[in-house]
Amino acid sequence: MAVGIFDSGLGGLTVLNAAQKRLPDVGFLYYADSLHAPYGVRDADDIYNLTRTAVQNLWDRGCNLVILACNTASAAALRRMQEAGVPEGKRVLGVFVPLIEALTERQWGDNSPPREVEVQHVALFATPATVSSRAFQRELAFRAIGVDVEAQACGGVVDAIEEGDMILAEALVRSHVDALKRKMPEPQAAILGCTHYPLMAEAFQQALGPDVKVYSQGDLVAESLTDYLQRHPNMLGDSAGGFLTTGKPGVVTDRATQFLRRQITFEAA
Ligand code: DGL
Repeated sequence: MAVGIFDSGLGGLTVLNAAQKRLPDVGFLYYADSLHAPYGVRDADDIYNLTRTAVQNLWDRGCNLVILACNTASAAALRRMQEAGVPEGKRVLGVFVPLIEALTERQWGDNSPPREVEVQHVALFATPATVSSRAFQRELAFRAIGVDVEAQACGGVVDAIEEGDMILAEALVRSHVDALKRKMPEPQAAILGCTHYPLMAEAFQQALGPDVKVYSQGDLVAESLTDYLQRHPNMLGDSAGGFLTTGKPGVVTDRATQFLRRQITFEAA
């Protein structure tokens, strides 16, 4: 019954949490490649190979559908994996599209030509690999015209969160927001384009100010997954749910429990 959720580390828990609230009867098998996190400083080949290994592991455990709850993997590996072909009955989906549909006020599957949208100045906060892939701008250009995107590569934030150093993470968020504002003084909207960043949502909102609408992926992905599973019930798979890590299960368990404020127990992948 489980849907696979993959991230390099703990960030995908922000997606998992929203999905579990929305779909209480669906099981989720979460896979954190903590041993190799962060992905955001790796090159595209490396990200592809690591993502492919993790997704294959989830498919082998009986998940039919795997969500890449990681923008870096969605940016650097998803298209290549889909083009290389996935095994019959298996699917892998990323987290970009639901976010861009929300930003551009589009319904799922609306393939009409790109059009002007309300928001014109958008700040994108993401990992260095996601920013350099320009995947967000590419997906946006399919749907909207006239949107000015200023991207800020937020080096160090994922490492700090993975290490549980929230004071450092907060200081880094403030300095990345300052750097962004020097390039775009008045963004209308800000995209948290890394699934780790919703864990720092308050710090982003405070540094950006109350007038900036901050978009996070958790609820948007959960909503889109609900819709997808209604249309593809066979994608539920036959695996049991749970939490797997390539890192140290005890350490990852403690951090995850701290972040989600409920007991989460990781096992070795
Ligand atoms: N949560 C991943 C993302 O959404 C973090 C990537 C990393 O490990 O640097 O991009």
